[in-house]
Amino acid sequence: MKIAFFSTQPYDRLFFERENAAGKFAYQFYETHLGPHIVRAVEGVDVVCVFVNDKVNREVISVLAQKGVRLIALRCAGFNNVDLAAAKEYGIAVCRVPAYSPEAVAEHTVAMLLTLNRKTHKAYNRVREQNFSLNGLLGFNLHGRTVGVVGTGKIGKAFCRIMRGFGCRLLAFDLYHDDELVKEGLHYVSLDELYREADILSLHCPLTEDNRHLLNKASLEQMKDGVIVLNTSRGALIDTVAVIDALKSRKLGGLAIDVYEQEEKVFFRDLSDTVIKDDTLQRLMSFPNVLITAHQAFFTDEALGQIARTTLANVEKGLQQQVREDDPAFRFSR
Ligand code: NAI
Repeated sequence: MKIAFFSTQPYDRLFFERENAAGKFAYQFYETHLGPHIVRAVEGVDVVCVFVNDKVNREVISVLAQKGVRLIALRCAGFNNVDLAAAKEYGIAVCRVPAYSPEAVAEHTVAMLLTLNRKTHKAYNRVREQNFSLNGLLGFNLHGRTVGVVGTGKIGKAFCRIMRGFGCRLLAFDLYHDDELVKEGLHYVSLDELYREADILSLHCPLTEDNRHLLNKASLEQMKDGVIVLNTSRGALIDTVAVIDALKSRKLGGLAIDVYEQEEKVFFRDLSDTVIKDDTLQRLMSFPNVLITAHQAFFTDEALGQIARTTLANVEKGLQQQVREDDPAFRFSR
């Protein structure tokens, strides 16, 4: 079973090699992302393994099919960067890692909220410079605040439970309701009510064709003045230009994002010697009340181990055509 991995970093190799001690799989690792520029180089592999910013469009899929690739294995949860219709048409199975560590992402979301609110990143630098002043570090209590959550799946649910521990009031919007969360005191409301009521709004739904730019000029206008927005889900859920306007007008009190619309051009790379040409990102980074991390919410030891184990199990199942109809890891098998 030969697998070509794209967008790999040293830690990907480490965890996938650790899970292949018996040598059942043969690996090819590429640092570049998968896209039209490289797909013709794919040769003699059964599987391509891709991550969040690989572009697996129709053109790429048609070449993969010609090259005899039978399975596209995503080592992430979202399918949004794969043209699923094209894969189905070309008879290539597509699988993902539906859950590796929801807590990893939920905990990072909370870490970002606490950092943004209590300004620990600024305090750390100040104290190292022997500046012990508190001016400019004022935060607010989370206890008693209303947290609005869009998407109460695995990650949203873990996030809700942590925030409940802080003593927050929890409101949510989802297409499906989670009875356990309701029993624990969460209320499902309409999106309009969520926008009106939330002091802190956190996005945990997948990116689909219907919810691109879910947070836009109109939805931001409905929100409370000074609302804090958190997005550890997918960048394009937010219209970044509208958010910049809302930050300038102080409508938004703060923004913490682990994902960004144009992240594929910058994230997962060291660009410290480079002139970044993305003016929107540069503008975002210039706000004192914006915190950006580079898609690291999943990045824990537990999650990386689970991603490697599930991906390799998916590859075996997929290639041996032993996929159950209701397997959540497979969008469809061949
Ligand atoms: P999940 O599938 O368990 O939950 C998603 C929830 O969103 C479901 O309850 C679903 O009904 C709901 N939903 C779908 N469309 C919606 C809409 N338009 N409005 C409101 N709710 C909607 O997924 P999980 O594991 O909780 O992951 C959520 C998202 O988190 C993923 O789609 C992915 O984009 C992102 N993610 C980010 C990571 C990071 O490192 N920053 C890592 C893993 C996932």
